[in-house]
Amino acid sequence: MNRMQHTVALVTGAAGGMGRAHCRRLAEEGADIIAVDIDSAAAELAATAAEVAAVGRVCVTGIADVRDQAALDVAVADGVAALGRLDVIVANAGIYADLGSSWELTDQAWQRTVDINLTGVWHTVRAAVPALTDGGSIVIVSSTNGLVGAASAAHYAASKHAVVGLARTLANELGPRNIRVNTVHPGSVATPMILNDTVYAKLRPDLPHPTRADAAEVLARRTLLPVPWVDPVDVSNAVLFLASDESRYVTGTQLVVDAGLTQKV
Ligand SMILES: NC(=O)c1ccc[n+]([C@@H]2O[C@H](COP(=O)([O-])OP(=O)(O)OC[C@H]3O[C@@H](n4cnc5c(N)ncnc54)[C@H](O)[C@@H]3O)[C@@H](O)[C@H]2O)c1
Repeated sequence: MNRMQHTVALVTGAAGGMGRAHCRRLAEEGADIIAVDIDSAAAELAATAAEVAAVGRVCVTGIADVRDQAALDVAVADGVAALGRLDVIVANAGIYADLGSSWELTDQAWQRTVDINLTGVWHTVRAAVPALTDGGSIVIVSSTNGLVGAASAAHYAASKHAVVGLARTLANELGPRNIRVNTVHPGSVATPMILNDTVYAKLRPDLPHPTRADAAEVLARRTLLPVPWVDPVDVSNAVLFLASDESRYVTGTQLVVDAGLTQKV
């Protein structure tokens, strides 16, 4: 219950499925939270803050699109001013959208994904590293699509591979300050990002109106363990490990949480 005692963690994309779970899990272990998300997710962000408060920790919320450096700078500065320090950065915000064959993606689709999933992570780090305590930890949420390709999602796979390069570089730059930098690579996770009709239709083009159960059937065939996806908390537990001192000599590495998806032959 106290693996994160006396620490403050910044989480982007904190209103959503996994972001909220990261906030709650870190708070359960004693961290206070700076939770950031976009304006249209303000109500869900307030719900995240309520969950953090319910486990007895403080949550300062900030509205910022990770594409907007100035807004992120303000959100981080306000959070650090309110909570007094910053020990952990969880760069979690991301999108999986506008899917299509690599050669058919529009400029707009490509740019939006790269701007949020890659440049947004760089913006987050740029806003928060100056305030980060020596001995702190940066966790960047990539994907199994940051390790292997993804049909119909070249922009997503490229952005998720690219953050690994960013993390490895940051690990080199920040090692002397005893700051660790790692990436987490979830497979399919039960959040709105994949639990929606667009993804179901991609997975089951054979059905006119595929359901969650129809999609689960396909995804369960892709994993080694008998599950179609993992739960957000399974990824949060990996984030917690990398955020905490239990991983004090782990840096520049990739932690995969995918029920065996990337190892299946
Ligand atoms: N769900 C999966 O299967 C899966 C698998 C691998 C990796 N991931 C990654 O995990 C992370 C979290 O995904 P999730 O499944 O919780 O998705 P989600 O869609 O449930 O939540 C994403 C959150 O990010 C926020 N967000 C979107 N664009 C933003 C922006 N420009 N600025 C700030 N916030 C923004 C959204 O408002 C939302 O709260 C993402 O980086 C995603 O790529 C997800």
